[in-house]
Amino acid sequence: MAKPGPHRTRNLIVAGTAAVIIVALALGLGLGLGLKHNNSSSSAAASSGGSSGGSDGSGGSGAPGSQSSPSGVPGRFAVATDTWGHPIYPTATGTSQYSAPTIDPASAIVTWPSDPFQPQSPSLTQVRTDRPRLIAPSYKWDALPGLIAKDSYLAGWNATIFGNATVYAAGPLTNYSIDGGLGESGVLDVARQVKVKVKSWAYAYRMSNDSSWVDRTWDELVNAAGNNSANYFGVEGDNWNDIHFLDLAEFTAAYAIAYDWMYDAWSDDQRTALMWSILNLGLSYGVTAYTDASYGNGWWRSVNGNWNCVCNSGLTMGALAILGDDPTGTAAQILSYTVSNAQANCAQAPSSDGTWSETANYWYFGTMAFAEMTSSLMTATGSDQGMFDANPTFNLTGLYHMYVTGMTSLFNYGDCGPNKYSTNANGMMLFGEHYNAPRYMLFQRDQFDAAEPWGMFWYDPAVSGAWWEDLALDHYFDDEKNTWASMRSSWTDNTGLYIAMKAGNLTDHQTHGDLDSGDFVLDAMEQRWAGELGSGDYDAPYYFSSEAQNSARWTYYRKASEGQNTLLLNEDNQNVEASPTGNFGSSGTAQGASTEFTVPSDSTAFFTADLTTTYNGTSFQRGIRMLNGRKQVLLQDDINAPSPIIWRMHTNATVSIDTAGTTATLSLGGQTMSVQLINAPSGAAFSTMQPVRFPTDPPLPAGAVDQPNPGVTVLAIQLGAGQYSLQVLFNPQWPGLSSSDYVTPPSVAVTAWTLTSHD
Ligand SMILES: *[C@@H]1O[C@H](CO)[C@@H](O)[C@H](O)[C@H]1NC(C)=O
Ligand SMILES: *[C@@H]1O[C@H](CO)[C@@H](O)[C@H](O)[C@H]1NC(C)=O
Ligand SMILES: *[C@@H]1O[C@H](CO)[C@@H](O)[C@H](O)[C@H]1NC(C)=O
Ligand SMILES: *[C@@H]1O[C@H](CO)[C@@H](O)[C@H](O)[C@H]1NC(C)=O
Ligand SMILES: *[C@@H]1O[C@H](CO)[C@@H](O)[C@H](O)[C@H]1NC(C)=O
Ligand SMILES: *[C@@H]1O[C@H](CO)[C@@H](O)[C@H](O)[C@H]1NC(C)=O
Ligand SMILES: *[C@@H]1O[C@H](CO)[C@@H](O)[C@H](O)[C@H]1NC(C)=O
Ligand SMILES: *[C@@H]1O[C@H](CO)[C@@H](O)[C@H](O)[C@H]1NC(C)=O
Ligand SMILES: *[C@@H]1O[C@H](CO)[C@@H](O)[C@H](O)[C@H]1NC(C)=O
Repeated sequence: MAKPGPHRTRNLIVAGTAAVIIVALALGLGLGLGLKHNNSSSSAAASSGGSSGGSDGSGGSGAPGSQSSPSGVPGRFAVATDTWGHPIYPTATGTSQYSAPTIDPASAIVTWPSDPFQPQSPSLTQVRTDRPRLIAPSYKWDALPGLIAKDSYLAGWNATIFGNATVYAAGPLTNYSIDGGLGESGVLDVARQVKVKVKSWAYAYRMSNDSSWVDRTWDELVNAAGNNSANYFGVEGDNWNDIHFLDLAEFTAAYAIAYDWMYDAWSDDQRTALMWSILNLGLSYGVTAYTDASYGNGWWRSVNGNWNCVCNSGLTMGALAILGDDPTGTAAQILSYTVSNAQANCAQAPSSDGTWSETANYWYFGTMAFAEMTSSLMTATGSDQGMFDANPTFNLTGLYHMYVTGMTSLFNYGDCGPNKYSTNANGMMLFGEHYNAPRYMLFQRDQFDAAEPWGMFWYDPAVSGAWWEDLALDHYFDDEKNTWASMRSSWTDNTGLYIAMKAGNLTDHQTHGDLDSGDFVLDAMEQRWAGELGSGDYDAPYYFSSEAQNSARWTYYRKASEGQNTLLLNEDNQNVEASPTGNFGSSGTAQGASTEFTVPSDSTAFFTADLTTTYNGTSFQRGIRMLNGRKQVLLQDDINAPSPIIWRMHTNATVSIDTAGTTATLSLGGQTMSVQLINAPSGAAFSTMQPVRFPTDPPLPAGAVDQPNPGVTVLAIQLGAGQYSLQVLFNPQWPGLSSSDYVTPPSVAVTAWTLTSHD
């Protein structure tokens, strides 16, 4: 999944002096940057590369003269990376100097030249005559060193990519490690490892002209085509594993990049060998998928999620790479299928509000493939061939990504997907440029996963400003497919408060969703207090069988309603045919230009959902809201229950409950959260439960084992049938706040909530 893990420690001491020097230099050199770097003096002392000087693509010292920042050029905004992989921004002390997001080549220090290939009437099969064709044409390679010299982000990413390429080159050939079985998770990880290596090496080759990168790539490609007799690499002729078509598509994309980016470096024999591997192991299966109705592995042609994007993208890149060289006509034939199919399916994955149809993590796979395919079409044919406009709300999926990003991890409901390897969020840069949404590009450039070859070409150094400037703290995603809301106390201070809650339909999520209407996450003080259990075992029996009510998928704890942060009625699963409705209110608070933001005391937001259909007609309203200037959270359930209920929340915290049973004290990562049951109905009290299936649950499929959830406690409230208003107040114990700084909200029915109902 996305979370990079706590691999780097928070380091706040990098900012100050460096930023001051940057501003001074910028002014001194008369660069007239819209730099707006914070000249904070609140923190001091340069770190000695503690956050790795750009080798991670996000932190970096941001200081001129450092490894990652060309001298005299503005540093990066983010000064370090926190334990969750998020950028840490210096704190402003005075008037902010961050400007509004913009992409303005006219006033930029440096930007890309325009593409000399501007066909009058672009055609899918008329490609540019020079190489490379895919993603990065030669005019961009020619310009790149000049851009790197004037842009700290590009400079840092370039260094990181070289570092990664060097590490990969020193490693062994990729092993054909099968995950589960070929027809289960197959060799998708293997394919993505080959792809990330190949694109890094191809980048390093083109930037250095050092042919040792070509030689190392060749060894890998001979191996991954099954032609290295010393290593087993799959079934001959089907080495790329068409039964799990994603694998085949990712291998094809890897070979396409190698073929195209190293075109001139290959001998004729090598180039021909690569072409035949692309044809025989990749594209020929694509033709079968599109033309043979009896073929069982082409089901992805009619679904809207990541499978359609990845499969069409890999086939398209393979076809574009060899078009003209291919004597069989297969490449042109493939293009006649993939582009229109991706527009009808892949491009439709974001719903009308931008939410990705699967989950927040699958967004990465889907948007990366969409971006690779679209970018390849643009550079090779001179047109996006209609990809960007195929879904009028595709643009909004960038906002989805920003709001689903919490202060710790994502609001990572549902399945999280396999390892990412070659996948990242750099599509945000391409979308930012095309849709004129500079915020997307600015957001992504500070992220840990930005250092990757595609990003070098999708990023436009003419972008400037602060992505958080004038950006609303809250957003309501209102499509009934996935109704949900996101609320926070700041965009630039991830030590604050973040909540997100979902309702929406439970089906049509490509069997990656959970039965989780009403599910929520809560972050405060850099801890996730209410969290998700994530994926189960993808290779478990019938895990992906269906989204039907009686699907075996819903017998697994992590997928069932009991494994979510919501309420259980009669220990039953929610109704898969539910169509909950939502309501949302926000003070509309937006952060200003400064990284320092004080929440106004009347700033608030709420999201309520009518979950009556989710519970088969039992009247049930759930609401969550910010209180007290976004320092506290109220979660309320108004239910008239005909059978017993259990309020449930999963946490990694240590839980201790007072004798009255109305206050639970949660400890996590050295922080404390007080959870209070206010206006408690008679008999209502907190308890803890184990995160395991109930003995009365329908049996698991034969041979199945449920995933354990070590370290997780269920905070619960168990009650018999009855009419209740359960009001749970979350009081994070913020440093510097005393008990009198917390409020106790009035009791208001969820249906009567307004922006001022809890003042
Ligand atoms: C590239 O290298 C950086 C710095 O060592 C590391 O954090 C990152 O995970 C590497 N990226 C990939 C895709 O391996
Ligand atoms: C890119 O990074 C490599 C490795 O650090 C370095 O040798 C090269 O000079 C950099 N390229 C440019 C144009 O700065
Ligand atoms: C390599 O893959 C084979 C399966 O093809 C597996 O048996 C073996 O354990 C793997 N080796 C390593 C080092 O992962
Ligand atoms: C690599 O070769 C190209 C084409 O000859 C040239 O333009 C470029 O400057 C060379 N790059 C390096 C780093 O030597
Ligand atoms: C691998 O071998 C097959 C069969 O001889 C050949 O068609 C293909 O071009 C080879 N590919 C590579 C990369 O060596
Ligand atoms: C894309 O979305 C962004 C963010 O909402 C917005 O600023 C921009 O105007 C949109 N662009 C188009 C073309 O819709
Ligand atoms: C517990 O922590 C792990 C590791 O950070 C995380 O993946 C998981 O979502 C957390 N579980 C909960 C219930 O918060
Ligand atoms: C949501 O589910 C309801 C009930 O199953 C269905 O009628 C409706 O069409 C679904 N909405 C969408 C957008 O899929
Ligand atoms: C709702 O009805 C479905 C279908 O009968 C059933 O499987 C499910 O357990 C019920 N859930 C609740 C919460 O009543």
